[in-house]
Amino acid sequence: MSIVAKAGLEDVVAASSSICTVDGLAGRLIYRGYDIDDLATHSTYEEVVYLLWYGRLPRADERERHRAQLATARALPQEVLAFMASLPRDSHPLDVLRSVTSVLGHYDPDAQDNSQEATLRKSYRLEGQMATAVAAWHRVRQGQQPLAPREQLSHAANFLYMLFGRDPDDVATRTMDLALILHAEHELNASTFAARVVAATEAELHPAITAAWSALKGPKHGGANEDVMDVLKEIGTPERAEAWIRAKLAWRASLSPAERQSPAARIPGFGHRVYRVDDPRAKHLRRMSRELAEGAGETRWYEIQEIIRRVVQAELKLIVNVDFYSATVYYVMGIPTDLNTSLFAVGRIAGLCAHVMEQLAHNRLIRPRAEYVGPMNLTYVPIAQR
Ligand SMILES: CC(C)(COP(=O)(O)OP(=O)(O)OC[C@H]1O[C@@H](n2cnc3c(N)ncnc32)[C@H](O)[C@@H]1OP(=O)(O)O)[C@@H](O)C(=O)NCCC(=O)NCCS
Repeated sequence: MSIVAKAGLEDVVAASSSICTVDGLAGRLIYRGYDIDDLATHSTYEEVVYLLWYGRLPRADERERHRAQLATARALPQEVLAFMASLPRDSHPLDVLRSVTSVLGHYDPDAQDNSQEATLRKSYRLEGQMATAVAAWHRVRQGQQPLAPREQLSHAANFLYMLFGRDPDDVATRTMDLALILHAEHELNASTFAARVVAATEAELHPAITAAWSALKGPKHGGANEDVMDVLKEIGTPERAEAWIRAKLAWRASLSPAERQSPAARIPGFGHRVYRVDDPRAKHLRRMSRELAEGAGETRWYEIQEIIRRVVQAELKLIVNVDFYSATVYYVMGIPTDLNTSLFAVGRIAGLCAHVMEQLAHNRLIRPRAEYVGPMNLTYVPIAQR
């Protein structure tokens, strides 16, 4: 007998995985057995990528080989750079990343090879190329030449170098590295599930990742970190924050349940399907946001956030999710807001590749059923009689 799941597959366990788990009640996030707090304090993004792909922390020699393999896989083919140059300059960066991922598949020597070895080789390339593509698009859309990646820099430092055209300082590099670690993986969220569904058909890595970026775009998923900054800019000053958020909540309360489903009736950066206490990533991003703001002498965005957080948590009892403070971390670093979701993607490519490899290693087609609620036994009516 079939079981009808709750809407949105809430609480459905749809795969066995040894990559990551989320304890929503305790507010814990675990990559391959390691708590995110431990990784955020002690690890680097490159090491976390190794952990996700190989299932354990690397020894020193393995870490060095892995780092070198990632660093030499960053370049984009000339044809892909030409493709980017042909796109309308006002294209959204995540749409460009999605299209570029698809186009990269045409030039990857292993594109059609779905073996574990080929998928790992493609993972190294996509890991490097995603960061290069996001930085390159930002320059292309401003009429600048994309910068070639530099192998001697870490993943985080190289990304910032390619984005801004200058060597980042240690604070910026460590901040970006930490943001990438925190975004690297998050169990069966919508984009990861999308990637696994595609991989389960035995389509290859590039189509699976293209599907993931399609799912990441929406305001209920990765798109929320861009919306957070839009809200903060609309509020403008800490003095206006409390009145603004109370007015928004009053308007929301006046809506019907159906109208409250609209993203416009949500406060971006709050709420989560799994967490019942604050997202464990948010506390790191909150600290980073405060420290960066104090360092830059521009604390108003952080101050507005603290007011919104206090009111929303008191009134709606919603938890803070990863997108709330990442928005101001990136903003204070000088990163344009419409790149926020793409930065999420630059980190998340690691977890997605791990999931595709895991899916392919123990694959069965993902094909659920629908509960049919439509009419039955109708008789076809010829068009002249309808
Ligand atoms: C993340 C999210 C999509 C989870 O959705 P979900 O598990 O399907 O939860 P629901 O949409 O069923 O929400 C449950 C209740 O909380 C409310 N709610 C959830 N998030 C809310 C938010 N950010 N602002 C206002 N109300 C919210 C819903 O309106 C609903 O209440 P209602 O029945 O009175 O309308 C949702 O919390 C959201 O839209 N958040 C804002 C966007 C965001 O930050 N996304 C990033 C996620 S990491």
